[in-house]
Amino acid sequence: MVAEREPSLLERRLVIVTGKGGTGKTTVAAALALAASRAGKRVLLAEVGRAEQLPRLLVPNGEPVGYAGRELLPGLRAMRIDPFDALAEYLTLQVPARRLVNLVFRSRGFRQLMEASPGWRELITLGKVWHLEQLTDADGAPLYDLIVVDAPATGHGVTFLDVPRVVVSAVHAGPLRRHASLVAEMIQDRKRTLLLPVALAEELPARETAALVARLREDVGVAVDRVVVNAVIGAPFPPGLEQLDRDLAALPAETALGSLPPASALAACAAYLASRHALNREYTGEIARATGLPVVPLRYLAGGIGGAAELQILGDALLGEPRPAEAAP
Ligand SMILES: Nc1ncnc2c1ncn2[C@@H]1O[C@H](COP(=O)(O)OP(=O)(O)OP(=O)(O)O)[C@@H](O)[C@H]1O
Ligand SMILES: [Mg+2]
Repeated sequence: MVAEREPSLLERRLVIVTGKGGTGKTTVAAALALAASRAGKRVLLAEVGRAEQLPRLLVPNGEPVGYAGRELLPGLRAMRIDPFDALAEYLTLQVPARRLVNLVFRSRGFRQLMEASPGWRELITLGKVWHLEQLTDADGAPLYDLIVVDAPATGHGVTFLDVPRVVVSAVHAGPLRRHASLVAEMIQDRKRTLLLPVALAEELPARETAALVARLREDVGVAVDRVVVNAVIGAPFPPGLEQLDRDLAALPAETALGSLPPASALAACAAYLASRHALNREYTGEIARATGLPVVPLRYLAGGIGGAAELQILGDALLGEPRPAEAAP
């Protein structure tokens, strides 16, 4: 029997980007969405939460796009999924009396109750993603070829994706169970959905990523076929000068190098770069080994992520073949 080939990144309908805070989720989501739209896909990029970072990243002076969303670039629409907006929309569809929904939403008591209730945000947010995934155009084809979700940071485990499954196992009948099952099915559909973890190549993040991936695959049942390792410092010295840090260190400390700082200062900089490179290389390999998954290393761009030019560099790397552990940079 021939093993079924995993769909490539661009063959998925839904890619959920996740990881610890500050690992580069938003950057990776934007880079992937941009690369996919440039490859001719109709892409929706959904940012979960209140702060809107994506529009500014993708277009100069990008104004917020809000819940309604906006086409930021040809073939690339962005929106922000705020759970309260999604809930209001859902209730308006379910409860015919719109006035009643508005009234409930304006009450402070309702807001306070919802702020304190666990789980509904995740369920309603994923419910909205499900709804977007179901949309079709005039010809009946899916409206979006690819939906990229910039998911919240995984703080305490993976609650964001866990909720539908938990609801299905706890609620035995009724619309809540029905809706949660549809969402859980979408998450567990290996052909449609991919969870894309973003990690940094350092000791603690590497360990946390291995634990996260294990839980996602075992408990949630979502497809995870690669790990993005972001901000990796590549080989710091040009070919032929691989030993530059050691060569500089071997020079007498006060050696004059024209208008450059003394050799000892340059040696310290070179040693720092070489050690960051070695560390990133070691933990990129460690992430691949500990998760049993290929990795997609993304270069650290020293000038920061200013806009589409940097996103394109990262996007090209994201669409490349993931590398097995032994080929880590
Ligand atoms: N490959 C890279 N090279 C250089 N800088 C990067 C790279 N990737 C991300 N950054 C920068 O690192 C910072 C964090 O990235 P980003 O906002 O994408 O992380 P995040 O995981 O979405 O954070 P949060 O958890 O706060 O949502 C940003 O300033 C971003 O520009
Ligand atoms: Mg972010």
